[in-house]
Amino acid sequence: MERYERIFFCFSALMLALFLGALAYVTIFMHIHLPGPAGRIIPKPGQNLAAAVLSTPPFNRPGLREIAAGRYEAVILAQQWIFYPRKIEIPVGSEVTFKVTSPDVTHGFFIPGTRINMMVIPGYVSVETYRFTRPGDYRILCHEYCGMEHQTMSAEVAVK
Ligand code: CUA
Repeated sequence: MERYERIFFCFSALMLALFLGALAYVTIFMHIHLPGPAGRIIPKPGQNLAAAVLSTPPFNRPGLREIAAGRYEAVILAQQWIFYPRKIEIPVGSEVTFKVTSPDVTHGFFIPGTRINMMVIPGYVSVETYRFTRPGDYRILCHEYCGMEHQTMSAEVAVK
């Protein structure tokens, strides 16, 4: 092997080992991973998915609930072409755990200005927690094409 070939080969192997090592490190020690579905709603025999989603707790009662002082759970349905509920109001500094699912097709759940950015897959439950430290009206946007009225699909988080 040529000298430069050898150097190049060693450099490439070293880089590969470095990147794989970094990946293993963040996965194992920092618990950073791709967002995955936290739960799944499986229809009973003869039942369609929409009926299963709408009758399974907590999605049979979508809305905002205070689960502890300053901590909320927002159960949200993403469906063609609305988020339900359409608006939630919370005090500044609140920590909100969003639990979102879809009874029909795949939607997106994106709140610009935060790190909330999820895909909502029919029958799967997407979960993410965020603390709203600044007041304002945050938009919830569907950023996954879901049909004709996709571009109108939004909701609001009012932080006061
Ligand atoms: Cu829902 Cu696009």
